[in-house]
Amino acid sequence: MSDTLDQLQDALLGDVNGAGDLDTLETVRVAALGKKGRITAEMKNLGGLSPDERKERGQALNKIKEAVASAINLRKEALEDAALNERLQAESIDVSLPVRPEEMGRLHPISQTWDEIVAIFGEMGFTVAEGPDIEDDFHNFTALNIPPEHPARQEHDTFYLQGEDGQIDYEKVLRTHTSTVQIHTMQNQEPPIRIIAPGRTYRSDSDMTHTPMFSQVEALVIDKKTHFGHLKGCLQDFLSAYFEVDNLPLRFRSSYFPFTEPSAEVDIQCCWRDGELVVGEGDDWMEILGSGMVHPNVLRACGLDPDEYQGFAFGMGIERIAMLKYGIPDLRTFFDADLRWLRHYGFLPMEAASLIRGLSV
Ligand code: PHE
Repeated sequence: MSDTLDQLQDALLGDVNGAGDLDTLETVRVAALGKKGRITAEMKNLGGLSPDERKERGQALNKIKEAVASAINLRKEALEDAALNERLQAESIDVSLPVRPEEMGRLHPISQTWDEIVAIFGEMGFTVAEGPDIEDDFHNFTALNIPPEHPARQEHDTFYLQGEDGQIDYEKVLRTHTSTVQIHTMQNQEPPIRIIAPGRTYRSDSDMTHTPMFSQVEALVIDKKTHFGHLKGCLQDFLSAYFEVDNLPLRFRSSYFPFTEPSAEVDIQCCWRDGELVVGEGDDWMEILGSGMVHPNVLRACGLDPDEYQGFAFGMGIERIAMLKYGIPDLRTFFDADLRWLRHYGFLPMEAASLIRGLSV
């Protein structure tokens, strides 16, 4: 091979290997092998040579052509790899980083508590039942063994709606408790029944510890053999799980509700330390819910035979147990829609409550 051809090859390979990116490499390729490229031009000149020279120079040019082409391919691969690596490097994400920008929304403590309650009772085999906020007299009172002349009606400070004639319509009641869902459930479902019913309730009452609207969760278990011991065990399991205290000490105090017999209010053990309530320790007691065995009249009102079926029910205030667990001092703040309060007392929306992960992490 002549010196000039060697020089040509060296020059072209130098250009190829010196190309710093794919665009430059393409320019180099065109300049060498394209229609007006240097090798192509050399090929065209072969016609003016003698047959022997043409053969020899032709072969040499072909070798250069191949060498340059394969060098271009190698360089191309290397540049493509480098480009990909650079992109991967630049685009790398750390999946362990928190979401950005920081999630701003917070779950309201009522939603969180509601989720925790559903998670616990779900594990115990309960399903969630619902009923309407606007009830008739039968579901809110009569079927629950509260007949028209019963004094419990006065205690409930009931909101009635207006009828079309502008007068109070005593058949349209904002439910004063979630016990109404006991009635709907027994009317519509054959025992065995095992439900909880979280929802809003309404009473015409307002001070530090009462708001006109608040939330309750009701539980109802009906079958042929359920007895007070089951009620006790169920509450022990629920309250221990909810307050995240093993074997939370409970106290059953005999009480009265028209729709249960016998009835009991349940207290949890607690004490005050540095102005804060500590649940599960000390020698104070805090009332937490009402409960009892479903009254035979209630079963009868729903078409169930009390000689065949029996069971228990209980109901508690959701805000109240949220206040106790999360140290929220004033009930009314739940309904102020104050963003600063929500940021302070709210919960991260993606951290779903579950018994396995922990209820309130
Ligand atoms: N409905 C009662 C209340 O609002 C609570 C309760 C429910 C009591 C079920 C006993 C059984 O205070």
